[in-house]
Amino acid sequence: MLNTEIKEIDKYSLSQAKTLLENEELVVFPTETVYGLGANAFSDKAIKKIYEVKGRPSNNPLIVHVHTSYDIEKLVYIDHDYVYNLAQKFLPGPLTMVYRSKGVVSPLVCGLGTLAIRVPEHKGAQEFLKKVDMPIAAPSANISKHVSPTTAEHCYADLNGKVSLILQGGKSDGGIESTVLDCTKEIPVILRKGLITKEMIEEVCGKCEYATFVEGQQVSSPGVMYAHYMPNCQTALFKISEIDKAKELYLSFIKNGKKPYFMCDFQTKSVLGKEYNFLDLGSSSKECASNLYDKLREGERVADIIIAFEISYDDELSLSVMNRLVKACGKGLYT
Ligand code: TXA
Ligand code: MG
Repeated sequence: MLNTEIKEIDKYSLSQAKTLLENEELVVFPTETVYGLGANAFSDKAIKKIYEVKGRPSNNPLIVHVHTSYDIEKLVYIDHDYVYNLAQKFLPGPLTMVYRSKGVVSPLVCGLGTLAIRVPEHKGAQEFLKKVDMPIAAPSANISKHVSPTTAEHCYADLNGKVSLILQGGKSDGGIESTVLDCTKEIPVILRKGLITKEMIEEVCGKCEYATFVEGQQVSSPGVMYAHYMPNCQTALFKISEIDKAKELYLSFIKNGKKPYFMCDFQTKSVLGKEYNFLDLGSSSKECASNLYDKLREGERVADIIIAFEISYDDELSLSVMNRLVKACGKGLYT
């Protein structure tokens, strides 16, 4: 068992982080999407620790995080010019691009000949990446399948005893993971929906596609296939048109002396009325993204069942939030 400490980001904690990473240990650090469980991307031994600590399937590749001034062509080939335009527009930020790998980082990080790279915008993440001066492979800093962490305290709850240092970066404002975009193709392909939407990408490079997922077929981003983001309590998910059915379920829990909570946005809350327990997601898709994981974790502490409603806002970011919510409610593959 390690003694786990949450530390403010300063020159002392950053020096400690660098020493830990050089010694092939793990460090948890903040980003604007979710917190990451970081390791030196060149070290097989360190990367193995990530998979062990998380209990993550080893065929699910990792994203490498670098500082804004890092020359990514040390790690990958840039095959298409649209990459430069996307980088100019969205980096640093919540966009992860997948390239052909040069094979210089640990093979345990890579997909099939590919490598995903992300340049996070969070000030603490940038300070951390600058100080440690190495590419950092990092998945979200939660136990595999559990809700992703958006605060240092969420990371502590999942990883206490398993890591020694969690860097404190406050609440991750974005709240859901980065968009993963395959940039090895002529037209970029969205492998995982996120904060940067298809519309935003198309504005920069004309065309962009969603990956299609066929049951039973190999996928290019294995992470999308797994049960994910699940709170440790019962969940149910309803369409807005199913409000009566959801209320029935709510009342059946009350009758049995249990504590149900509705989880929904403000638009749906105003239709439901005030006399219920609520986990509020907010009044826009952006707020719903920012609050989702925190509310799922709050739900598992206070509720016997989270009765969630689909997001009622009609925009692309809502699709990204729904992608997470459907998986959190154990509804399997939803791309
Ligand atoms: O916002 C984020 O992306 C966060 C923060 C910490 O940066 N990281 C994150 O990592 O969400 P993780 O490991 O939870 O999810 C990484 C996703 C998975 O769906 C994985 O399959 C995909 O990215 N991925 C990683 N490398 C890939 C590759 N070479 N090709 C295709 N997909 C890849
Ligand atoms: Mg994850």
